[in-house]
Amino acid sequence: MRRYRLDGFAGTSSLRLERCDVPVPGPRQVLVRMRAWSLNHRDLLIAHGRYGRDVLPGLVPLSDGAGEVVRSGAEVTRWRPGDAVVGLFLPGWQSGRPRVDRALGGSVDGVLAEYVVFDEDAVVAPPSHLDFAEAATLPCAALTAWQAVVELGGLHPGQSVLTLGSGGVSVFALQIAAAGGARVIATSGSASKLERLRALGACEVIDHARTPDWGARAAAWSGGGVDHVIEVGGAGTMRQSISAARVGGRISVIGVLGGGPGISPVPLLRKVLCVQGVQVGSAEMFRAMNRALEHHRIRPVIDRVFPFSRAAEAFRHLESGAHIGKVVLTAE
Ligand SMILES: NC(=O)c1ccc[n+]([C@@H]2O[C@H](COP(=O)([O-])OP(=O)(O)OC[C@H]3O[C@@H](n4cnc5c(N)ncnc54)[C@H](OP(=O)(O)O)[C@@H]3O)[C@@H](O)[C@H]2O)c1
Repeated sequence: MRRYRLDGFAGTSSLRLERCDVPVPGPRQVLVRMRAWSLNHRDLLIAHGRYGRDVLPGLVPLSDGAGEVVRSGAEVTRWRPGDAVVGLFLPGWQSGRPRVDRALGGSVDGVLAEYVVFDEDAVVAPPSHLDFAEAATLPCAALTAWQAVVELGGLHPGQSVLTLGSGGVSVFALQIAAAGGARVIATSGSASKLERLRALGACEVIDHARTPDWGARAAAWSGGGVDHVIEVGGAGTMRQSISAARVGGRISVIGVLGGGPGISPVPLLRKVLCVQGVQVGSAEMFRAMNRALEHHRIRPVIDRVFPFSRAAEAFRHLESGAHIGKVVLTAE
């Protein structure tokens, strides 16, 4: 079989395609023939050595993939050959308190291989209406958006939610929040992407490149401040996100797309804001999300699909920022 390894941290030029034996599952493991994979911003940070956390040297990259079980260990009870499965980003977090110590494609090997062995509780069944390419987009971006919007943000009809940009997490947050009856305000730096975000259910859109005070604009549109900001920009956008939020509102701190000056905690206390860090989600949340995606017939937005052998091109496409939603690889 073929698999990729990151032979250094010089970006896509460090991606090495190599041949190796198909792994053998242990008694409580399943062997999955991977059919599709998806990329996240984190995969770029890791490839460039900018992740800032423990990364396994020479690792198999990527956290997200879906496929079918081809062999199961003698003690496996949940899965049979032929079952479609999608992997967990944080296999140690089944339910309850966050367990963020083991993360695929970071501190442990990821899934960018033709066959991958998973523990039987490290995969879930994908929503039945999705194909493998769509299912592969769920483990990181979709589950993070779900946890922020629904599990922590208490999504309810009429709630106002602000999403930033048109990347994987933000587009899923928009789709999930809109399906739950929220009034979504979405930003993007591109006019054509703004149109697309509106078509996906955003009530209002703001060009963040042309509107430097987009936080105030979002606050005005929502009648005094939004209930919930899905914050993926980090230090570069936090001031505007605080300005967008209502008194007593919530900011879900998810990403660090842009650098910028540090922020003072004073506006947080003045506005009585709940600022909460979010890390992907548990297996239990993943199953709850899949039921909701199935019920609402939500389909992931896939920007482009590349064949497995052209992974470096897929990385470069994500890096270009031209995408909306997700960039996917499929088996050849
Ligand atoms: N905490 C977690 O568990 C978790 C999980 C997933 C992702 N993340 C983090 O969340 C962030 C987004 O990840 P992703 O995979 O969704 O990224 P992505 O798909 O690469 O999305 C990037 C998009 O965000 C917008 N953008 C880029 N720079 C921006 C900036 N400085 N301010 C505002 N918007 C900006 C652009 O959209 P437009 O062109 O439309 O402006 C860009 O296309 C990353 O920092 C990632 O590491 C964290």
